[in-house]
Amino acid sequence: MKDSQAILVVGGAGYIGSHTVRQLVSNGKKVVVLDNLVYGHPEALVDDEVVFIEGDLGHRDLLDKLFTEHDIGAVMHFAAYAYVGESVTAPSKYYGNNLAAPLVLLDAMRAHGVNIFIFSSTCATYGNPQYVPIDEKHPQNPINPYGASKLMLERVLADYSHAYGLKYAALRYFNASGCSLDGKIGEDHNPETHLIPLVLEAAAGTRKHITIFGTDYPTPDGTCIRDYIHVNDLARAHILAIDKLAAGTDSFQCNLGTGIGHSVKALISAAERVTGTTIPVVIGERRAGDPPELVAAPAKAKELLGWEAEYKDLDMILTTAWAWTNGSRKGHFDS
Ligand code: UFG
Repeated sequence: MKDSQAILVVGGAGYIGSHTVRQLVSNGKKVVVLDNLVYGHPEALVDDEVVFIEGDLGHRDLLDKLFTEHDIGAVMHFAAYAYVGESVTAPSKYYGNNLAAPLVLLDAMRAHGVNIFIFSSTCATYGNPQYVPIDEKHPQNPINPYGASKLMLERVLADYSHAYGLKYAALRYFNASGCSLDGKIGEDHNPETHLIPLVLEAAAGTRKHITIFGTDYPTPDGTCIRDYIHVNDLARAHILAIDKLAAGTDSFQCNLGTGIGHSVKALISAAERVTGTTIPVVIGERRAGDPPELVAAPAKAKELLGWEAEYKDLDMILTTAWAWTNGSRKGHFDS
């Protein structure tokens, strides 16, 4: 791609997309965002120079117009549905949005000669881990339609790469976490199901307590272990991946995680330290489909992209999320 070309960020008004848009802009890249605002927030696009188009990635006419009117050199695709539980009860919604719609996008790209694609994949494509830390050679056996829809698109990308010369990176995120350092944008899902925002709401008093889903897992303190990777680290990896593919590197898949695991209980203790509060905790049942431990082996990203997590300290991650909980997000609650 040429320096003068723009990057199309599909789902750029969502949590990870909006943080990536800010980094792209601060790196001097031109950005066009396409977002249907089903889960995205237009106010998360804080940079005036970003071109925003409201619409759906599965609408071919809209995509043809977009690719004709804007000189796009690469596409980043963040616009997936990501509620694991909902994917089990509403698989049609997940295969429709996470698989069928991106096929329309990929075919539009092909028709308009755009051949660099960065895909938000997930550790959920691995399913229940056979070993930890999880490297990219770990078998991919997703245990829910969400993970399956992501794995199927990975397969589509491999086939498009082989047949049509698409250059892609499938970035398998572990647990995205944290917020922008200035507290201007952050994590704002509706409904919110993720541990960190819920714990911080309990710390802020906008939620009565946090329920720990299971204390009888085969882990040192009985609660699930996850690898929390800061959203700015994720964003940086996307930009490195585009640069790498544009420079001629072959398509690749890689994990994005810190390589460090934290239990639910350890995370709540860290949140108490960071917020200076005592967080009310209720012990609940296990949540269906939660593997005991998900931790990345992040060596491949380092080798390929020269990338490693900068935010390896959980307290630092939580400090950024707390700034958001008490900053712009509070405004959301109050309004
Ligand atoms: N948890 C609680 N209480 C809560 C919410 C979560 O104890 O109120 C626990 C969960 O059981 C889990 C951990 O906190 O052990 C983290 O849960 P999250 O919901 O924050 O994140 P997940 O690990 O379930 O989900 C993440 C991504 C998904 C992805 C999944 C892969 O957010 O998109 O990893 O397993 F599919």
